[in-house]
Amino acid sequence: MKKFLLISALALSLLSGINGSASDAKVYIPSEEIKKAQKEFSDNRFGIFLHWGIYSMMGQGEWYLNYGPNAEEYAKAASGFYPSKFNAHDWVKAIKDSGAKYICLTSRHHDGFSMWDTDQSDYNIVDATPFGRDILKEIADECKAQGIKLHLYYSHLDWTRPDYPQGRTGHDTGRDASKADWDSYYNFMNGQLTELLTRYGDIGAIWFDGWWDHDEDATPFDWHLPEQYALIHKLQPSCLVGNNHHQAPFEGEDIQIFERDIPGQNTAGYSGQEISRLPLETCQTMNGMWGYKIMDQDYKDTTTLIRYLVNTAGMGANLLLNIGPQPNGELPATALERLQEMGEWMKKYGETIYATEGSEFPAQSWGTSTRKGDRLFVHILTPESKHIFVPTTSTVKGAKEYASGKKVKYTKVSDGVMLELDQMPEEIDYVVELQVKD
Ligand code: GLC
Repeated sequence: MKKFLLISALALSLLSGINGSASDAKVYIPSEEIKKAQKEFSDNRFGIFLHWGIYSMMGQGEWYLNYGPNAEEYAKAASGFYPSKFNAHDWVKAIKDSGAKYICLTSRHHDGFSMWDTDQSDYNIVDATPFGRDILKEIADECKAQGIKLHLYYSHLDWTRPDYPQGRTGHDTGRDASKADWDSYYNFMNGQLTELLTRYGDIGAIWFDGWWDHDEDATPFDWHLPEQYALIHKLQPSCLVGNNHHQAPFEGEDIQIFERDIPGQNTAGYSGQEISRLPLETCQTMNGMWGYKIMDQDYKDTTTLIRYLVNTAGMGANLLLNIGPQPNGELPATALERLQEMGEWMKKYGETIYATEGSEFPAQSWGTSTRKGDRLFVHILTPESKHIFVPTTSTVKGAKEYASGKKVKYTKVSDGVMLELDQMPEEIDYVVELQVKD
């Protein structure tokens, strides 16, 4: 057995060498602080993603710089960035009222512009804009005051800095690729991460993105992730590390991220990787884009968003739902409306979502389930009949409508129970609570 464990550890460390870094292939053992933070993260189930930067001024999403502009021309937008209506208090309040338990803010996206007062470069919200306010600080302070966690998105790739070794994106921004200097860029990133983790209070997670920029290199690119992850854990022992690399988790990561798909689905093409035992998170847009896109007013309706959250919880995962704030500093009115409606629903049904476990059975055509101790919540989302077959292996002792407490008829059948509803439900989510015993 011991021998087997040793071999597995060796195999694991070799694997992590391929995926993460060849330089330090140790097996990562999460600390007690991390385990506690992982549990809290999972219990939270619902967060709001904010993609905000100078790209919001162009109104064409956060990838705009990749599609043609010269980085120097693009950077001139910074001197006109004055989000006069920005109010961190109002943002955080609207988000908190939606029932979300954390906010993940883009600190620096692929365009390389930093949304805080960084000493590592002048290309930042305080030094390069007439606005001159450290918006990350204002949001961090509000999160603390209003009791909601702050996570920070951080891009590994940079389309503006010449020292970033160019990957497969951002080829037309006019950077001098011959100036690539990994050591300089790596120091820059670690300097920035150190600021983020020492100047803004408790940070719940660092959410990396951009690893995939080098996923087609002939020689595997070494991002030196283990050392960077260790730096994060050293600076804030409870800060979770996640990386949106679209792979199975690497050593040193504390959560597994899925982009635009609930774990187990792969409609967007980023999620073929196996589902790990780490806490899971799915990020999804409210309309079709992450950063503000003036032409995209096609927002998912509240029913769709709530059902997405429920289905995500049914897979034992969190939903990180995105909003792209406007260049004037406001959250789009439609997004605010969605937040408010989700909040009303969460006030009533949050108990069936927060701190639950995912469904013990695969999603059914009618919906899914979540569980808390001996309470199994059957989420009936899209029923086709009044007879709902719930394939639970637990012993069912009773069934009632979650909202009213009214008894629900059921019969035991082989491999589960059959609920017999009085009428076809018309709710966004008709929840039946089963009292169960394993
Ligand atoms: C992708 C995109 C990026 C976005 C992220 C959010 O990786 O490159 O723009 O921030 O997804 O999931």
